[in-house]
Amino acid sequence: MADKEKVIVIDFGSQYTHLIAQKVRSLGVYSEVQHPEDYIVDDNVKGIILSGSPYSVYEEGAPKIDLDKLLRFRIPILGICYGLHLIAYELGGRVYRSERGEYGRTELLISSRHPLVEGIPRKSIVWMSHKDIVATVPDKFRVLGYTGGSKIAIIANDKQKIYGVQFHPEVEHTRYGVNFLRNFLFNICGCSGGWNPINVVNEFINAHKDLKKEKAIVAVSGGIDSTVTAIILRKIFGDNLHLIFIDTGLLRYGEKDWVVKLFKKLGFENLHVIDASERFLEALNGVRRPEVKRRIFSELFYKIFEEEADKLERKYGKIKYLGQGTLYPDRVESGATSRYTDRIKSHHNVIVRSKRFIILEPLKDLYKNEVRKIARALGLPKEVCIRHPFPGPGLAVRIIGNITRRRIEILRKADKIVEETIRKYELYEDLWQVFPVLLTLRSVGVKGDKRSYEYIIAIRAVKSVDAMTAEFAKLPWHILEEIANRILNEVEGVNRVLYDISNKPPATIEYE
Ligand code: XMP
Repeated sequence: MADKEKVIVIDFGSQYTHLIAQKVRSLGVYSEVQHPEDYIVDDNVKGIILSGSPYSVYEEGAPKIDLDKLLRFRIPILGICYGLHLIAYELGGRVYRSERGEYGRTELLISSRHPLVEGIPRKSIVWMSHKDIVATVPDKFRVLGYTGGSKIAIIANDKQKIYGVQFHPEVEHTRYGVNFLRNFLFNICGCSGGWNPINVVNEFINAHKDLKKEKAIVAVSGGIDSTVTAIILRKIFGDNLHLIFIDTGLLRYGEKDWVVKLFKKLGFENLHVIDASERFLEALNGVRRPEVKRRIFSELFYKIFEEEADKLERKYGKIKYLGQGTLYPDRVESGATSRYTDRIKSHHNVIVRSKRFIILEPLKDLYKNEVRKIARALGLPKEVCIRHPFPGPGLAVRIIGNITRRRIEILRKADKIVEETIRKYELYEDLWQVFPVLLTLRSVGVKGDKRSYEYIIAIRAVKSVDAMTAEFAKLPWHILEEIANRILNEVEGVNRVLYDISNKPPATIEYE
């Protein structure tokens, strides 16, 4: 493998940008997403991919990049959809808005053989999602393929090593999408491949092996990210690693016992369980605004964490290191990867940066599916590998409005019903997440001939590959009905259940 070779994906705002980076990584080439205004091209960059965008290139405010500057690096460039339009538009071609556009599965015809289309049949299905069309290509470009709606669907300029495709090779529906990307990486960019998320972990362990006499702590939740982080850190710190599990009172039914059992099974001796439910309830009392909830939660979480660290230091000596299971998308969504990325939600392990400890984040450049791969390689039990993500602030971000003991209890009972039903029908692994949300709205109902005026619960079930985008799951009616019936019969205080059919974007997965 070449020393740290990588391909950068310049993000013009497409919902598929992270999918491109993940697909490139799955082909054995490390890839990261960068912004058009602050990208860095160092010696390790072997290729540059320009992503799609919700904008049109000729529109005011459309994100741009200085292509002449990019070309001076003499590194191969591939434009995808908007990326193709940008190449055509900036280098002297013409792009216009078509009447119909092309959406969904479309037949692509390859008209010229070329290393970019090696091994791809003359006719194949690709995924299109565009209204803008390239009408004329700039000088010195060849057209390699076309569709019914796009006379110019693949372009190539071998002298300058700049290419563009109208369709989305990163999307599963493009039958030979992986081949296109592989051809770009290996035939055009000359990548060597061999990158693997497991190497990242091994390199991390190697780079920190001198720390074995130092002490470290890590907060665990039973979720895959913090569990994998703990296992990795144990390989460095051994018994000098202490795990802290804080029961915030905002956990799911039976979760604390599950976590204690899990870490026992994994052979961890130093698990410290802290019951802080009263403190969280008190701090969150009367707090309704999502970002305020998140901030108060994070501050208290870290306060308790530090108090516990103090106690451990008094007993075991100085603790210098703090492990965190932060992932790449957590940093992106918290606006930590670029000053141009909007902060959507403050993931608490990103906003509160402890100054007291040196932070170790072995997973900070990885996507969830890569962490799952590592978890399997580390031999973690299947129940951990397949576990749905659960947000740090727990049920706090699923209880809209005021958080009270009664409202937590309502949601906890509903959550148990949802999970049991989904597992009963063996759908758990098909879904990225599934959970109920307690709304502030109440509605009129009738129970046993009596009028009721009670809470509404929304059910959220989504499919996703990385949580950056998600689509609502089309669960069968009878399963939704079973969930609703059980909640309405078994959970006191609820008289209506809704199913959330919003995709992300624009809706996020969690409600707050
Ligand atoms: P959203 O709601 O932004 O969530 O679409 C994306 C993914 O992140 C999870 N999530 C969190 N995870 N701490 C976490 O560790 C948090 O504060 C947090 N907030 C959201 C969410 O469950 C989804 O999988």
